[in-house]
Amino acid sequence: MSEPQSGWRIELAVNGQHRSATVEPRTSLGDYLRLEAGCTGVHLGCEHGVCGACTVLVDGRAVRSCLMLAVQADGAEVTTVEGLAAPDGTFHPVQQAMRDAHGLQCGFCTPGVLMTFAALTAGEAAAGEQEMIEAMSGHICRCTGYQGIRRAAKALAQSVSGAGEAA
Ligand code: FES
Ligand code: FES
Repeated sequence: MSEPQSGWRIELAVNGQHRSATVEPRTSLGDYLRLEAGCTGVHLGCEHGVCGACTVLVDGRAVRSCLMLAVQADGAEVTTVEGLAAPDGTFHPVQQAMRDAHGLQCGFCTPGVLMTFAALTAGEAAAGEQEMIEAMSGHICRCTGYQGIRRAAKALAQSVSGAGEAA
């Protein structure tokens, strides 16, 4: 990261694509992703860390992009909801689970929920159903009453533990 006269120069990967940009020190990662990287699936609701809609993955961890500065993501690999599906459009398992469980209505909260589920189901230490449901305490949904989201969490936890047992 370097500091030219007009801002800070950062380099990062967004959904597998290398990007370099000059950003103001106060620019949030969420604003950078939406306004500079074109990732409008990053939804900004409260912009103070409460609603969870802006959640993205930074080096595999779910973070609230409204609370992280773009300069803090220098050198990181960032994944947004746009990066979940396969290049041929096949849904990521978390997307499929939410679809199957009717876990969304207006969809505003959905990208954040998906990214939290993606973080929790990745890797060998995948979360169980209860952990996934508890993680939903960090996501506000005004539409669904959370029941569909809970069903998706349950299905994901079962498929992850089933995959673990089969391995
Ligand atoms: S917009 Fe980031 S938590 Fe609400
Ligand atoms: S589906 Fe509308 S806010 Fe969650």
